[in-house]
Parts: sequence; structure tokens; C-alpha cells
Amino acid sequence: MVKVVMVCLGNICRSPLAEGILQSKVNKNVFVDSAGTANYHVGELPYKRSIAVAKKHGIDITNQRCKHFTSKHFEEFDAIYVMDKSNYENVIKLASSEKDKQKVKLILNESHPNQDLEVPDPYYGGEDGFKNVYQMLDEACSVIAKNLKTDSK
Ligand code: 4NP
Repeated sequence: MVKVVMVCLGNICRSPLAEGILQSKVNKNVFVDSAGTANYHVGELPYKRSIAVAKKHGIDITNQRCKHFTSKHFEEFDAIYVMDKSNYENVIKLASSEKDKQKVKLILNESHPNQDLEVPDPYYGGEDGFKNVYQMLDEACSVIAKNLKTDSK
């Protein structure tokens, strides 16, 4: 079992989408979860506009509830994908070894290697923001899923 966690700030917009998208592309041997570096929304459903854009693509994310990212995630997960550089800094602060730090990656470096691109927070913008975020995450998750399949051969 490979364990992957998607991380953003609130765990209501970007990382729930990333979780749902990656889960839809992998088999049962991959466990996918998500969490936020802030705890404002713990226990809540994903934001309604993330639920809507996922649904449009046939993915149901209403089983998810918001969780807070903690140092325990380093023990449980093999890979930690963050959405932006601010998430990266917040997650790295909780790492306790070099091995922990190496688990943390900007998710768009999967689809756009070495460019350090960020998934913008769509919370305060219009509908297009959610569509764009979906497309970026879909592309990155396709690469992650393909690599997970290659690794397990
Ligand atoms: P997310 O977006 O990090 O993609 O879940 C956010 C949602 C809510 C807040 C911040 C970011 N907030 O401050 O409430």
C-alpha cells in the first residue's frame, strides 16, 4: 500500500479536489488522503464549488471531511503533495528529518518538472478559478498515477 496525502491551506478547495482526482486514477493499493495546514474548517465538507467541479467530471468528493495537517502525517504517508510555496513552508516546518523533507513536493512539478509552479487558491475568485485548478490537478495527477503504476511493477 502506497499512501499519498494532498495538502493546501484550508483543505476545502484544492486538496480535496486533488484527493478525488488522484483516487479516481489509481487502484486499491494506493491510499489517497488530504489535509490543510490551517485548522479553520476541520470537520467541514469540501467547499461547494469544489464539489461542483468534481461532480461535473464524474467524481464525488462529498465523502471527504476537512482535516488538519500535523507532524503525524510524516509517519503515515510516503508522499506529501502541496499546492503552493506557502503550503511547502508550513509543511516543512513540521518535518523532523531529511527523509521527512524529501517526501514534500510541489504537485505541479509532476506535470511541469523543476518549474516550481503553484496551484492558485480559487476561494476568492470566480468559477474559472475552479475549472483551471481542476485542469492543473488533473494533469499532475495523471503523471503521479502513471508513476505509481510503473513503481509497482
Ligand atoms: P484551499 O482554499 O487552501 O484551497 O482549501 C482556502 C479555503 C479557505 C480559506 C483559505 C484557503 N480560508 O481562509 O478560509
